[in-house]
Amino acid sequence: MSRKALIAANWKMNGSAALVKEMTNTLQSLAISAVDVLLCPPATLLTRFAPSSQFALGAQTLSHETSGAFTGELSAQLLSEAGARFVIVGHSERRSLNFETDGLVAAKLATAVAAGLTPLLCVGESLAERQQEKTQQVIARQLDAVYASQPELLAKSVIAYEPIWAIGTGESASPEQAQQTHAFIRAHLAQYDATAAAAVRILYGGSVNAENCAALFAQADIDGALVGGASLKPAEFAQICLAATQ
Ligand code: G3P
Repeated sequence: MSRKALIAANWKMNGSAALVKEMTNTLQSLAISAVDVLLCPPATLLTRFAPSSQFALGAQTLSHETSGAFTGELSAQLLSEAGARFVIVGHSERRSLNFETDGLVAAKLATAVAAGLTPLLCVGESLAERQQEKTQQVIARQLDAVYASQPELLAKSVIAYEPIWAIGTGESASPEQAQQTHAFIRAHLAQYDATAAAAVRILYGGSVNAENCAALFAQADIDGALVGGASLKPAEFAQICLAATQ
């Protein structure tokens, strides 16, 4: 099964109109077609991007509601109108800082798909959970919460494995550690839909940079990356995109 690599940038609460320009210019001049590139800036910057064939846009979260009196929230429809084609769902920062439960993440993912957005579902264990050898248990729970009752959504999803202990720490999972968990994720998803599990792109996220990305991309079940800090540096992000073409 050959899966096209996807390199996604999660700017989190960073970026600026100037970075939009700089990143656009960098990716335009790179002109790569062998990998898909996705930029997830803060929602307020989505409309600052001119449409481009070099990258797609995504949001970092969405409301599970479709409209109404939900001050401060953004619906899938609004994000879509702002140019988003993808949306990150269940990032560990939202799970912990915004108290998003497995159930809410499942509802958000369904809402995204219903509105035509491709959800990028994040799963991953904390350091304590890894030390207690609960990595697979935690990830299975996070996946089951979404797909057990709505397995048809798997074919429309992208998954990102982001071990919490590797996010923003400079300490990436080793390629072998990441591969082991990616293989587990794919095998676990096969119980819902074997064809979709073989085709779904599983990205690795957690301190990915220009130095460590090639070894990660060489792993059989790693289909790209969800990049945080390094995605704020256009030249380095471009190098990561290029490494995925190898
Ligand atoms: O979603 C991307 C992310 O959480 C990883 O962040 O800064 O470790 O690349 P970073």
